[in-house]
Amino acid sequence: MSQDIYARIKADHDHARELMEKIADTSNSAEKTRRRLFDEFKIDIWTHHKVEEATFYAQLRKEGEDGEAFEAYNEHHMANNLVEELATVAMMNEQWLQKFKTLKELLEHHMEEEEEEFFEVARKEIDKTRAEELGKWFDERKRAAAEAITPI
Ligand SMILES: [Fe+2]
Ligand SMILES: [Fe+2]
Repeated sequence: MSQDIYARIKADHDHARELMEKIADTSNSAEKTRRRLFDEFKIDIWTHHKVEEATFYAQLRKEGEDGEAFEAYNEHHMANNLVEELATVAMMNEQWLQKFKTLKELLEHHMEEEEEEFFEVARKEIDKTRAEELGKWFDERKRAAAEAITPI
């Protein structure tokens, strides 16, 4: 059975939370594990942000809720930049881990705000059928986007 947009986004958030916990727990000598987990996380979170903007926030903006959308775009932008930075510097040291933990906090706060506040705003504006349709599109687009940026 397909999930509505709220359940689909929540599932992504839970997966990202789990990956971030695992990465934060890696030691500065576990290079293979840290790299593998971070590569997975990078693709997952970038595509999550883009597809969330193209579905959930695009719909919110159609409903006139631009404030929430712009706040989210801004936080996505900050998080994406940090991910990019973490992906391009030496990974096996304490500075990397500290920076990753900053990103983790930023994203945990962001995801909580979406689930606790923005979903409530959306539920008042978006009917059930549309929420299910958006969930289906989110799922399809995320799959395609992740495939598009996964190295061959
Ligand atoms: Fe978001
Ligand atoms: Fe999200």
